[in-house]
Amino acid sequence: MNQEKQVWAKKSTFIFAAAGSAIGLGNIWKFPYMVGENGGGAFVLVYLLCVLIIGLPLMMSESIVGKYSHGNAIDAIRATSKDSNASKFWMTIPIIGFVCMFLLLSFYSVIAGWALDYTYGFATGKFNGISAKDVGGIFDGLLASPTKMIIWHTVFTAATAFIIGKGATDGIEKALSVMMPLLVILLVAITLYSAFATDYFAAGVKFLFEPDFSKITLSVVINALGQAFFSLSLGMCAIMTYAAYMRDDVSITESSVWVVILDTAMALLAGLAIFPIVFANGLEASGGPGLLFVTLSTAFAKMSAGTILGFGFFFLVTLAAISSSISMVEPVVKWISEKFNTSRKSATYLYCFVVWVFGLLTVFSFSNGDTFIIFGKTPFDIIDYFTANILLPLGGLLLALYIGWVLNKEISKKQLFTLNGFIFSVWYFIVKFIAPVLILIILVSMVLGEEKVNQIISSIFG
Ligand code: TRP
Repeated sequence: MNQEKQVWAKKSTFIFAAAGSAIGLGNIWKFPYMVGENGGGAFVLVYLLCVLIIGLPLMMSESIVGKYSHGNAIDAIRATSKDSNASKFWMTIPIIGFVCMFLLLSFYSVIAGWALDYTYGFATGKFNGISAKDVGGIFDGLLASPTKMIIWHTVFTAATAFIIGKGATDGIEKALSVMMPLLVILLVAITLYSAFATDYFAAGVKFLFEPDFSKITLSVVINALGQAFFSLSLGMCAIMTYAAYMRDDVSITESSVWVVILDTAMALLAGLAIFPIVFANGLEASGGPGLLFVTLSTAFAKMSAGTILGFGFFFLVTLAAISSSISMVEPVVKWISEKFNTSRKSATYLYCFVVWVFGLLTVFSFSNGDTFIIFGKTPFDIIDYFTANILLPLGGLLLALYIGWVLNKEISKKQLFTLNGFIFSVWYFIVKFIAPVLILIILVSMVLGEEKVNQIISSIFG
């Protein structure tokens, strides 16, 4: 990194960093089980629409603010709003973002800890040739052991803190440029296995890509929107922070399109790899957060090279999770160390420790899920719902309003210098009207509830 100008030397670094942030547990762990729980193809269709209509334009919006100011998220909003004579209200954008990243990271590191446990499990040959039932038993055993989960949660958080504290994100990016393609290759290999070694590939494809329109309910739409934000790392100033390191001559549009394509392809690939195995082994598509771990391990246990493949796979998933978790820590640490002039290291370790403590709530949600319940839900369910389905869309809504209505239009025009006039107008129209209206309708519907919304829809459409 060029320290003086604080921008990345290479053009492609932003794409790598942003894709590293976007591609993570959201694609490989969460997307498949959300598809399974939300009616298959119906969810995928709504998800893709959300990515295209809301996700891509908002990724460009976040990048504009970051690249324009070259500072941390709070200063970026402050600088851009000053240049547009805007009120202080808009500072809520980075504040929501920071709160959200804190909450997300607290459970993210616990789930990444599961991947670590599986990496270790495969390395020690625990899954060698065992039955599907025993694979399920191993997962249940992990959930029943808070000690184990806490150990791996600690290892993962410490690794994240170590990388950020050292300012070694450049190094991790280099490592990722090798590891990420490897992960893709492994996922493709598993998909090929699903295609040729199970008789259920067609069923998997059908489940993913043949939408049953009657399954599109309000909660499917809400979940799809939340998942789009989560998977693309949007609405929290994470992308904004990375865009701050973008060189001036790099095209925001082109980079954003790449990141969105890569992220979406990874999610779909994970789905294609997993669902045939689910159907072939009579597992539940709606198996929830355990889906990835149970299905793939079942397949690995049957393969002759399963131990090494399983080890490689979960190791790479852990790395993908690290490149995402550092993007949740970096914005906050960048701000703390710039604002209070503290050392990067102490800001990092203190912050990560607090997140770690909060993460224990997620550990006990899984290990003591029947006793650890508030309003009928576990703390993990609440944190997950509150972040993905409320805070992220809210952050996105504010950001769209900010770019569409507050920020000086000339700033956007200048930042999106590669777009011709017409396409720029389309983008601007989406950010100004379409995205905020859609997000608002979804948020309001959520408040009203499914029944009320159905009443309103049927009174409008007869
Ligand atoms: N996008 C990541 C995933 O899919 C999660 C993530 C990392 C994230 N950094 C973020 C989400 C910042 C929102 C904001 O796993």
